[in-house]
Amino acid sequence: MAKKFSKKAPVASTPRVDLPAKSAKPKGSAKTKDRVLITGAAGFLGSHLCDRFLKEGYHVIGMDNLITGSLKNIEHLFHREDFEFYHHDVSKFVHVPGELKYILHFASPASPIDYEKIPIQTLKVGSLGTHNLLGLARVKKARILVASTSEVYGDPKVHPQNESYWGHVNPVGKRSMYDEAKRFQEAITMAYHHYHGLETRMVRIFNTYGPRMRLNDGRVVPAFMGQALRGEDLTIFGKGDQTRSFCYVDDLIEGIYRLLLSNYAGPVNVGNPKEITIKQFAEEILKLTGTKQKLIYKPLPSDDPMQRQPDITLAKKLLKWEPKVDRAEGMRRTYAYFKGLTKKELNEKEHFSFEKYARK
Ligand SMILES: NC(=O)c1ccc[n+]([C@@H]2O[C@H](COP(=O)([O-])OP(=O)(O)OC[C@H]3O[C@@H](n4cnc5c(N)ncnc54)[C@H](O)[C@@H]3O)[C@@H](O)[C@H]2O)c1
Repeated sequence: MAKKFSKKAPVASTPRVDLPAKSAKPKGSAKTKDRVLITGAAGFLGSHLCDRFLKEGYHVIGMDNLITGSLKNIEHLFHREDFEFYHHDVSKFVHVPGELKYILHFASPASPIDYEKIPIQTLKVGSLGTHNLLGLARVKKARILVASTSEVYGDPKVHPQNESYWGHVNPVGKRSMYDEAKRFQEAITMAYHHYHGLETRMVRIFNTYGPRMRLNDGRVVPAFMGQALRGEDLTIFGKGDQTRSFCYVDDLIEGIYRLLLSNYAGPVNVGNPKEITIKQFAEEILKLTGTKQKLIYKPLPSDDPMQRQPDITLAKKLLKWEPKVDRAEGMRRTYAYFKGLTKKELNEKEHFSFEKYARK
């Protein structure tokens, strides 16, 4: 859908996208809704968060620079009175008019092929972007939740990882732009909490999958699904004996929602502890898609963790949360989404906006 960008932005440097004309106000909309800002709104997780907060009755303000996300993920919201969207890079000064009750900072490249291609932007959004949003939270007296990651544990020496483990990260390794940006993000968020008394929440997200992942983002679920749908062999890096644990997106969003409403400022793991080897997982995908391709093996990239498994004891106790959707069901729903993509989308090798942003 072609998008027109407002020339007269409501706030300098934060162009709000002119969404299509809204339908008449629904009955009962007179009450002012609490407003929530979601950064990374056009991405995989951000778009699901927008859906969830709208469902809970909030007015949602999405913000994204579309570097790895797509307006397609949120175009179903454009007709709504209670949704607005700002096309903006949060590593630059961020302002939105009006009150804010919550800020959820989810803007950041999240897959290794993305952040290795745009390392500086990745470091900036985790550091400068987080700083900008913490500042905004202070001004608005809003509670802020930041999206951290299991990558803060690096290539862990402890299994499963619980929140008190400090991690094993190579500060100059291939993934350092992401891992260290997120570690800085956690540190500055804690500093704002302790020094300014800001209400902060921090979620350490483990591998999550579901509809609206980008097929070409290099993460294992869309990579295998794309290969299966294109009739290609499935590529395994290394011997395939490395393990991963995958959380279905609806479970993750529920965990994040509960964490935001909790009174706990420390980091909390949210993910699915059920482990599977990559080889077993590839075999499950072949079975699910009913395809006859082979598994092919390529060398393991450096700094690729051998094992990742969340210890979710804290989330269970604090949030009364644990994953509900089993892998078979989650994969069926995800496959249904990918099957609905057009042939052009299935064959898109590169995300359209990298060229545009790479040198900024
Ligand atoms: N999906 C996972 O399994 C996972 C795991 C751990 C952590 N996370 C974290 O969750 C968040 C969302 O991840 P995702 O999987 O939805 O990734 P995604 O790439 O689909 O979404 C990220 C969104 O942020 C936007 N963005 C990036 N830099 C920006 C900037 N400077 N200004 C404004 N927008 C910007 C992108 O355009 C994109 O829409 C990230 O912070 C990521 O680190 C995700």
